[in-house]
Order: sequence, then structure tokens, then C-alpha cells
Amino acid sequence: MQAMHSMTSANELNLQLESTLQELPLWSVYVEVKSLVNDLTTLFKQEPLLPGIILTKNHKYQGMISRQRFFEHMSRPYSLSLFATRPIENLINFLQPEVCIVSEEMRIVDAIQIALQRVPQLVYEPILVKTNSGNYQLVDFHQLLNSMKVGTERIHEIVLALRNFSRLDESEKKRVDIHEGIDSTLLLLQSRLKNQQTGQIITIVKEYEKLPLVECYPSLINQAFMNILANAIDAIFNNYDCSGLSCSLPPSPQKYPLIRIRTELIDDNHVIIRIADNGLGIPKDIQKRLFDPFFTTKSVGKGTGLGLSISYQIVVDKHGGQLQCISALGEGTEFMIKIPVQLDS
Ligand SMILES: Nc1ncnc2c1ncn2[C@@H]1O[C@H](COP(=O)(O)OP(=O)(O)OP(=O)(O)O)[C@@H](O)[C@H]1O
Ligand SMILES: [Mg+2]
Repeated sequence: MQAMHSMTSANELNLQLESTLQELPLWSVYVEVKSLVNDLTTLFKQEPLLPGIILTKNHKYQGMISRQRFFEHMSRPYSLSLFATRPIENLINFLQPEVCIVSEEMRIVDAIQIALQRVPQLVYEPILVKTNSGNYQLVDFHQLLNSMKVGTERIHEIVLALRNFSRLDESEKKRVDIHEGIDSTLLLLQSRLKNQQTGQIITIVKEYEKLPLVECYPSLINQAFMNILANAIDAIFNNYDCSGLSCSLPPSPQKYPLIRIRTELIDDNHVIIRIADNGLGIPKDIQKRLFDPFFTTKSVGKGTGLGLSISYQIVVDKHGGQLQCISALGEGTEFMIKIPVQLDS
């Protein structure tokens, strides 16, 4: 008998619309059909959240018994006395409805749709997930639904952030909360903060000072934040696989990947936003060319080399501000955006 599970709540999972069943906590509880029915009772009582067990015969998949059907059956007259001390094998015929089996690569939304197509009395049965390695695991139907709820809430947040980010309704200048713009941008970049290959996650440290509303073209300023933050993410992750930058320094995996965003008000008339990363930094000869249109060190298809030149136009030409880069090779890079609180007319 083997029991294993991880009950991360759906809120802690970073679920997206594209998320697959692999990203959900799945149950792997196997019981040989030779075991006694009593053992099942014990197991279900020990694990109150266990939605069902996978039956094996000589370690090969044989079927599934769900908690609900098991207890329904055992509460019938005479069931306990008839079955309790017999092998589970005797129960299978009574308890095995059609089992819904899906691949672990299936999207959660698709699995829900398939699960909902079952006959009403089976709709709450757990779903069997077949893994790439040929094993089976179980997912609780309620948990499946709940994960979708969390997913849709997140999508709602992203739509709000997109609206805030692009501020399509406000292409004109407006007084806005700069921190809101940064936060929306970060939310849109959230899925990129995790390196899919290494699993490393960038920590964002915010050191926000109290700022007045800033008169600016919000959709443009947010675009500049987006370009600079996206570069910082690229710099950090390229750092760890050491490609992309023409730099011979070894990666430093002991460092925690970090982006620090600091804001401050200076001389009552200007705000400064500093976006710093602890990527590899930028070699001196490259620093001079950063803001040139089409300058990129990224491979074809990865960068157009326009991000910083557009940001420069936005900050300097459109807002009368300053955009500077301070970088130390091997330590990281900081971009400083300085813009006036009040735009010159
Ligand atoms: N935070 C950073 N750390 C290290 N290098 C950076 C950083 N930001 C920019 N760079 C360097 O500056 C170059 C130009 O950046 P820019 O944003 O203009 O273009 P890109 O990121 O290469 O492409 P695009 O932004 O158009 O997708 C980058 O290719 C990279 O070499
Ligand atoms: Mg860029």
C-alpha cells in the first residue's frame, strides 16, 4: 500500500488558462486488490481528503474506487459484515463505474469539460490522470473546479492590469499613481519571473516612497517600465545559462535573482524610479550603444533592439525627463527614470 499526496491550495499555484493537470496536486494512492476491504476503510479514514484509491494487481493498474462510492456501498445493510474481511477484488464489480482517464498534459479547462460530460451520478467522481511515465494519479473533482475558479480570478486581474497598463481610454496626459502603473506591468510580466528550465524565481523588491500623482502619458510611461523590466528579466535568466550577453564571466548561481524597484520624490518636482537587477551587468563598450535603435545582443527572434530606444524617446523627448543606466559587470544593472511631476505644456 502506498500513499502520497501534496495538498498545495489552488491559491498558491500560479495557474493560468493554459495550465495543465501536471500543475495540480495529484493523489497517488495505490492498493493491491488482494488487500482487505478493511484496509480501505482505514486508509480513507486516515486521509479525510483522499478522493479515491487506485487499485493494482501485481503492481499493474486495475481500476479505481472513489471515496464516495465506497462509503455509499459500505453503508448498505450487511455490506460491512459481508465484505470487511474479504479482499478488495470482491468489491470491484460493485464499485467500478466508468472511469474517466485523461493525460497529464491536458489543460485543466479541457479536463473539466470532459468531467462534466459524465452522467450526473458520476460527475463528482475523481478523475484518473495518466502520467507520461505510464503511472496513474487521481485528481479530486472539487479541487479541479476550484483551481479553475482561481484561474478565472487571475485572468480577471490580468484583464484589469492590461486595461490599466495600456490605458487605451487615456492616450492623453493625465495625473496618475506611478506605483499602480509599475504594479500592473509586473502583473503582466508575472509568468516570465519564473525560469521554466531551472525553476528559479525572481524576487521583486519594492521600495516605494510616498509619491504625488504624476502628470504623464500613462500608457507610454508604462511601456517604458515594461521594456526596462523585461530587459532585467532577460539579463537575469541569460545570466544563469550564460548566453545572450557577450560576456565571459561564469554564472553565479548562489545569487538570488532579484529586481529592486525604488521610487522617490526629489525637489518636490521630480520623481525618480530606479529599476535594478542583479544580472550579469553590461560591458562598458555596450553601455554606450544601449539606446541606439536596433542595438541588441539577443539572438535573432528574441530581441529587436528597440525597447530602450523607444523608452528613451518616451522618457526624454515626450516627458522632458532623464533615462540613465548604471551597470557594473558581474553585479547588475540599474536604470534610472527621472520625470517631472508636472509636464511642461
Ligand atoms: N538590464 C540589463 N542588463 C543587461 N543588459 C541589458 C539590460 N537592459 C538592456 N540590456 C542590453 O541592451 C540591449 C538593448 O536593449 P533593448 O531593450 O533596446 O533591446 P532588446 O531587449 O535587445 O530587444 P527588444 O527590447 O526590442 O525586444 C539588450 O540587447 C541588452 O544587451
Ligand atoms: Mg528589451
